[in-house]
Amino acid sequence: MTIFNPNTLVEITQQFGTPAWVYDAATIRQQIKQLRDFDVIRFAQKACSNTHILRLMREEGVMVDAVSAGEIERSLVAGYSNSDNPESIVFTADLIDRETIELVIQHDIPVNIGSMDMLHRIAEVAPHHSVWIRVNPGFGHGHSEKTNTGGPNSKHGISLEDLPQTVALIQQYGLDLIGIHMHIGSGSDLEHLSQACQAMVGIVKLANVDIRAISTGGGLPIPYSSHEDKLDTMTFFRLWNDARKEIESHLGHSVKLEVEPGRYLVGNAGALLAEVHCLKSTAEHNFVLIDAGFNDLLRPSMYGSYHKIEAVHQYSNQQGLESISNALEYAVAGPLCESGDVFTQDASGVICHQILDNPKVGDLLVFNDAGAYGASMSSNYNSRPLAPEILIDDGQCRLIRKRQSINDLVALEMV
Ligand code: LLP
Repeated sequence: MTIFNPNTLVEITQQFGTPAWVYDAATIRQQIKQLRDFDVIRFAQKACSNTHILRLMREEGVMVDAVSAGEIERSLVAGYSNSDNPESIVFTADLIDRETIELVIQHDIPVNIGSMDMLHRIAEVAPHHSVWIRVNPGFGHGHSEKTNTGGPNSKHGISLEDLPQTVALIQQYGLDLIGIHMHIGSGSDLEHLSQACQAMVGIVKLANVDIRAISTGGGLPIPYSSHEDKLDTMTFFRLWNDARKEIESHLGHSVKLEVEPGRYLVGNAGALLAEVHCLKSTAEHNFVLIDAGFNDLLRPSMYGSYHKIEAVHQYSNQQGLESISNALEYAVAGPLCESGDVFTQDASGVICHQILDNPKVGDLLVFNDAGAYGASMSSNYNSRPLAPEILIDDGQCRLIRKRQSINDLVALEMV
C-alpha cells in the first residue's frame, strides 16, 4: 500500500496536473533517524537533488555528497557551507574538470579522489587541499550489474594495486588526507556491505598512513516489494563500528565513521503520479497507457526495476473503454515513441505484469518507492518537460519544483 493518502494524491494532481512527483518529509526524517548512530550521515544527492530536499537534509544535520559542479551549486543554494562546517560538502568523482576544480577550491570542498589524474590536477593548483581516497576493494555488488561499482569491471575508485602509490603522491604533494572511502554498489545487501567493512580494515592497514575518518559509501537497500525486508540498520552499524574500532586500535586514535546513503533516505518516501489515458489489449497483454514515460521514471527501462503500481480511481466517467473486462494483470506503459517505454519489464526487457484494481481511463496510477533516482534521472526525451515535485510536510503540500514548460525547453535554442 502506498504511504500516501489517496485523497491527497487526487488533490495534488488536480492542482498540479500529471505526471507529478510527490515526497513525504516525515518518511525521510524517519529514515535519517535509523542511521543516527553514525558520526556523519552524508546524503548522496544524486538520488534526489531538489534543493528543498537538500534543505530538509541540512536542517536534520545531514551532510551532502556532490558528484558534479551542478550538485555543488545545488548544495550551496540549499545553504550548505564548508566555511560554517568543513564537513558539509564532499565532491566525489573519478575525474575533475576545470570548472569544478575552481569551485572546490573557492568553497573549500574536500575531494574524494577516484583516480591519480585527479590527484595531480588538484595538487597542481591547490597543494594543501583536503582529500579522501575512494578505494575499489576489488569486489562490488549492486541490484544490477549497472550499479555494481567495485571489482575489475568498474571505472570507479583507486585499485588496491594503485593505493600505495596514491598515498605516496598525497604525501609528496602535501595534500591533507581526511580518510578512506569505499562504495561497492547501489542497492546492495547486508552480506556484501559487511564484506566491505572487513575489507576496509585491511585497506587502512595496506595504506599505511594516518587518517581521521572512514566512509562506508552508500548502497543501503530498501524494500521495493512486500517480499523484501527492511535493512537491519543496527547490525549494519554494529559491523561498521567493529571495523572502525579495529582501525582505531591500529592507528592509536579515534576515527570518524561516515555513511553515504542516497536511496535509503528518500527511496520509500517518494512516488510518481500519472493519469491513465488509454486501455489497449493485444493477444499477449492488457496495456494501461499513462502520461508518464521513461523520460520521467527511467529505472524500469534501464534496470528492469520493480515499482509497485497502484490505481486510484479518480474520475470514472471518461469516454473510451470503461475497463478491460475481467483483466487482473496489466502491462503499464508510457506515451513515448519507443517500444521499451514500459514500466513493467524485467532486466532483459521482457514485458511483465502487475495486478491492478480495475484501472479506467482518467484514473491515477501511483508508482511507489520512486523517491530515489526518479526525478533526478528524468530527461526531456520526446520533448517532454520535467514534471513538478511536491513535498508533503506536516500535512501541507508544497510545490518544490514547477512543471517545466515547452518554452523553457526551446529557450536555449533561441540563438
Ligand atoms: N556514494 C557513491 C560514491 C555513489 O556512487 C552512490 C551511488 C551512492 C553513494 C549512493 O548509493 P545508494 O545509497 O543510493 O545506493 N541509478 C541507480 C543507482 C545508481 C547509484 C550511483 N551511485 C538506480 O536507480 O538504482
